[in-house]
Amino acid sequence: MWRPAERIRHDPQPGRWPSEAEAAASRLFSPIRIGKLTLEQRTWVPAMVPWRASADGEVTPQVLEWYRCFARGRPGALVVEATGIRDIPSGPLLRIGDDRFLPGLAGLVRTVREASGGATRVFIQLIDFLLIRRRPDPGRYFSQFLSVTPGHRAAFGDPAADEAAVRRWLATLPPEQLARVLDARELEALQFGARERVTDLHLPHVRDLPRTLPGEFSAAARRARLAGFDGVELHFAHAYTMASFLSRLNDRHDGYGGTPEGRLRLPLEVLRAVRGEVGADYPVGSRFLTEECIDGGSGPGEAAHYGQAFARAGMDFLSLSRGGKFEDARQPKVGEAAYPYTGRSGYECMPSYYSDARGPFGRNLAATAQIRAAVRAAGLQTPIVAAGGIHNFTQAEAVLEKGEADIVGFARQALADPDWFRKVRGGRGAEVRLCLYTNYCEALDQRHRQVTCELWDRLALDEPGIALSSDGKRRLTPPPWS
Ligand SMILES: Cc1cc2nc3c(=O)[nH]c(=O)nc-3n(C[C@H](O)[C@H](O)[C@H](O)COP(=O)(O)O)c2cc1C
Ligand code: SF4
Repeated sequence: MWRPAERIRHDPQPGRWPSEAEAAASRLFSPIRIGKLTLEQRTWVPAMVPWRASADGEVTPQVLEWYRCFARGRPGALVVEATGIRDIPSGPLLRIGDDRFLPGLAGLVRTVREASGGATRVFIQLIDFLLIRRRPDPGRYFSQFLSVTPGHRAAFGDPAADEAAVRRWLATLPPEQLARVLDARELEALQFGARERVTDLHLPHVRDLPRTLPGEFSAAARRARLAGFDGVELHFAHAYTMASFLSRLNDRHDGYGGTPEGRLRLPLEVLRAVRGEVGADYPVGSRFLTEECIDGGSGPGEAAHYGQAFARAGMDFLSLSRGGKFEDARQPKVGEAAYPYTGRSGYECMPSYYSDARGPFGRNLAATAQIRAAVRAAGLQTPIVAAGGIHNFTQAEAVLEKGEADIVGFARQALADPDWFRKVRGGRGAEVRLCLYTNYCEALDQRHRQVTCELWDRLALDEPGIALSSDGKRRLTPPPWS
């Protein structure tokens, strides 16, 4: 993963843990409304993909075990991982693109309710993404994947040249010459693997996204409601389709890009379709970016405008993330796909302990506060969820006290210790296992391996009945806290 050049080490701090009475009187453990729903406390576990669904996107016993662990800690809300809204093969990513997924998802909701004693509200994150191919072997790229164009023939020096001859010639070119002969997308396909963009209007299915996505999202939201989820989070963040519509890089000229209003158009149409399907009383929120953290990308100015528009259009919560884009992703190895959390924007999304002077803790808070202030200035009270490096009570309470956000997200900290919420609420914060922000978990995520935490995945491996990772080396859930 990319790291700031300064490489200053920042260690997580326990801060001052509250007594049980102090916790009970705190802002963090006070209730908050999300639309018509009440969260018992202002704590939130943001979506985290653990790569535990079946190969065809179904809930497995391991998925249930993962969420049971978080639910036992009784956070105010738990957002189930990014779940694909289309009925297309997506590897071990959870899916909600057909009614056949309903029984599994309903079981997941039941699991969270039972394990939290009904205390934790459970949302599901709905995602759409475009096609990305693995980085090809150059031989196969030139012999099979590349479409030979008149431009290639012209560079070869013979407009009527035989296609096979052009392919053979291209395969022999040194990198500097290839950079002149191939266009930017062809070079990208060779060096990184081909990646579709929302601006690829020459591709019919991309051109048609404004016609297809509102229906896909609203059907998925209908299923989420049927499965018993307390609400849905529309994934408008990171490297995926909807975030790409919101990006300043979106210059679609069909009314769905080019200007802030154009970029907002599809997200608002998706929201309207979802609302139409699930009704006014069902909580619908979105996760989007305060800043894309890439050259030419959107920043807090755009995000403040988007936040106001979403709140005005009836979103029940706004969860703010940061970065996580493909544009600056590291070159993958041949045979692997680019991963959107490997460049600077990836660092901003999941900052780790070697950092710059700002450090990894609360790195997104200033921008989050800016967006919250804009939403409030527009007279809207929509709750704002913050996340990024928050791990102790003092920090979390300060976020609420300063009005930077209304709800505090703990992603990696909840993975390091899913009982954080129960421990701190009960005056036993000293027993918290603090996240080290090493991103061992994120590296597993990157390789699509079952996500675990280095602080607990080798503990008590001989415990009877525990589930182990596919390689048999790691336990999949932490030892229980008693
Ligand atoms: C293993 C892993 C998987 C993640 N999966 C998702 C996801 O599915 N959707 C999402 O919006 N963010 C995802 N994230 C980002 C987190 O929700 C969160 O925004 C980020 O880790 C920063 O918060 P933190 O410092 O509290 O961990 C993931 C993070 C990790 C570590
Ligand atoms: S592996 Fe554990 S300690 Fe390391 S960043 Fe992930 S959750 Fe934190």
